[in-house]
Parts: sequence; structure tokens; C-alpha cells
Amino acid sequence: MKDKITQSFTKLFGNQPIVAFAPGRINLIGEHTDYQEGLVFPAAVEQGIWVGIQKNGLSTCRLFSVDFEEEFVFDIHSFSPKKNHWANYIMGVASQFQQAGYKLEGFDLAFGGNIPASGLSSSAALSIAIGTGLSEVFKLTITKKSIVLYAQKSEHLFAGVKCGIMDPYASAFGVKDRALLLDCRTNTHFEVEADFGEHSLLLVNSKVKHNLADSAYNQRREACEESVRILRKIYPEATSLRDIPVKDLEKVKKLLPAELFPKAKHVISEIDRVTLASNALHAGDLNVFGTLLKESHLSLSKDFEVSCAELDFLAEKSWDLPGVIGSRMMGGGFGGCTINLVANSRVQNFQDQLYSAYKENFDIEADFIPVSLSEGARILE
Ligand code: GLA
Repeated sequence: MKDKITQSFTKLFGNQPIVAFAPGRINLIGEHTDYQEGLVFPAAVEQGIWVGIQKNGLSTCRLFSVDFEEEFVFDIHSFSPKKNHWANYIMGVASQFQQAGYKLEGFDLAFGGNIPASGLSSSAALSIAIGTGLSEVFKLTITKKSIVLYAQKSEHLFAGVKCGIMDPYASAFGVKDRALLLDCRTNTHFEVEADFGEHSLLLVNSKVKHNLADSAYNQRREACEESVRILRKIYPEATSLRDIPVKDLEKVKKLLPAELFPKAKHVISEIDRVTLASNALHAGDLNVFGTLLKESHLSLSKDFEVSCAELDFLAEKSWDLPGVIGSRMMGGGFGGCTINLVANSRVQNFQDQLYSAYKENFDIEADFIPVSLSEGARILE
């Protein structure tokens, strides 16, 4: 992929680019907790986005998407978001750098990727690759963590999704064979060795992406914020649902309106599950780990209501298949992938059974994507 990007760049702009790479991410557990200062347990994957970039001495930025075979041009001193356009991820990061006081000039850029499904956060991978590339080309002294925060802000302002920090963080900080136990209050992490023994992590791509996923995401976030405002009556210091102990759920139920309680319950209990699951993985107790994945799915589906018929079917069917340790929907929801931990000796059977059952029920041919935990963003030599 690096060669393909370099060749496209050279063909278009005539010189050699610097190439930055940033991976997509998976999340073992901890969904919809990052924007409530909670815990999450993601990891970077091998697949990602490659960005070839070089200064051009102009004030114009010339962009080329190798995958869409599409160009886009903007002026570095005057630009604004364009509805639903991939260039927003690039302009958004450039804008954040400029607002932070970094001086940018015109640049040429060609990018492409091999992220095989939606739900692996290609947008965060693109933003982090851009941030890493810009920082290298303009010789900016800018920390990885700042790039992560600019990428997140860029997505809020230029793509209109009020996402948390998990995706850009995992893309930037990923480590081979490790999951990141990330605390989204302090924005710091512990690396946890992910030894799955004779088991493999496998994503199942539902191949659906329901409309309104972005607006539903923002609504869920608002519902959590509303719960926090109400709960301050008895937890005056609370800044997020992270501050509500899981043992207080009964008390919380009495205070919150019926439509808000299940949402709050999901976040509070999911944060607890992340601690339990990371401990279980550390201790090598895969059965406990798998049970927590199932509980996470049920909570996301029934209480937080971000699943859909296709994801529910894939997860529920998987729980009954031999060799499956755990299965749940992964990411923001309303489509994308499930994440599954399956005994190596049963992987083929798992794929065959799930493929036919899903095809029969939804007339969709699911994809199976093996994933391995990999290194985060970097400049490629
Ligand atoms: C999306 C967001 C993340 C996170 C997940 C749900 O991927 O970008 O910040 O909230 O959904 O866990």
C-alpha cells in the first residue's frame, strides 16, 4: 500500500512524499463510555490509512483520494467544512493545528487505505495519519496526545459527530499484541498483554450501516449529559457517569426518568465491565472475559439501544456456536461489525454456520475478518 500511495503521489505531483501510516481500531469492551470519562479497552489493528504528503510552496492544498480517485483543493488560509466530504477530515485537522498556533503552508497529499469494514474507525485513522504527516512535514513539535485531541475536535467540528477520544487514541498509541486500558478521564492508558491462547479474534461485518447513526450517536451523548445534570442532586461533584458507582444503580433508578435510566445504567455498568474484563484477560480467564462481552452486547442492545436486528442476530447466533468464547457488537452501533473470540479449531465451522444463517435471514453475505493487535501511527521509512 505504501508503494501505491507513493507512486500515485509522484505521478500527480512530481516529487517524493513522506508517508505516514495510522491504523484502524477494534474495541474489546467499553462501548459508549469514552464520552462519559469512562474506561475503554481498544487496540490498533494492522489495517489502516497511508498518507503521502509534502509541502508545495503554495497556499493551495491539493488532495487526492486514491481509493475514490477524486481530487479536492483548498486554500490553507481560508477553508470551511463541506457536507459529507472526506476532505473534512484533512481540513479539520489542519484547522485545529492552525488554531493551536502552528503555522501551515500549502501541501500536496495522496491517501488510501485497506480498512475492510465500517466500524473500524477509518475516520480516526485518516485524521491521525494526517496529524502525524503534517507534524513531520512542517517540523512541528507536537505530542502524540495533542494530535489525538486535535483529531477528536476536528471530527466534532468538521464531521459533526461528537465522538469520544477512544478511536484516535487507539490509532495513535496502539502496541503490538497489547490492548490499551484507556482511562478517558485522565487520557492515559495501561497496556495489557492480550494472550488469547488457542483462540482468535474475528470480526464479522454485518455490511449494514443504518442512516441516522451519527444523529443517534449525538442523542445518546446528550441523554447521558442530561442524566448527569439530574444526578448532581445527590452527587453534587459528579462531572460524568463515571462518578456514579455501579452499586448505586437502584438509587439512580429512583431519580432518573424512565427513558433516561437504561441509558445511564448501560454506561455505569459498562465501565465496571471494562475493569472486570481487563482483569480477566490479564489473569487469562477467557471464560469470564467472554461472558462480559455477552453482557456488554445485551446492555448495548436492550438498554442503550444502539444495536440493530442484523447485529443482534450475529451476536446471538454466535453465542450458541461451538468454540465461541464471546461475541458482541463493536463500536458506535447501528451496523458495522461484531467482535468475536473463537477457538482456532472452530473458526471454519463458525464462519460456515454464521454465513449461511445470516444469508438465509437477511440475504446478506457476511464477511469474516481476522484481526491482530498492532502498532499505532508512525512515519514509514
Ligand atoms: C464511536 C466513537 C467513539 C466511541 C464509540 C462507542 O466509535 O467514535 O468515540 O464512543 O463509538 O464506544
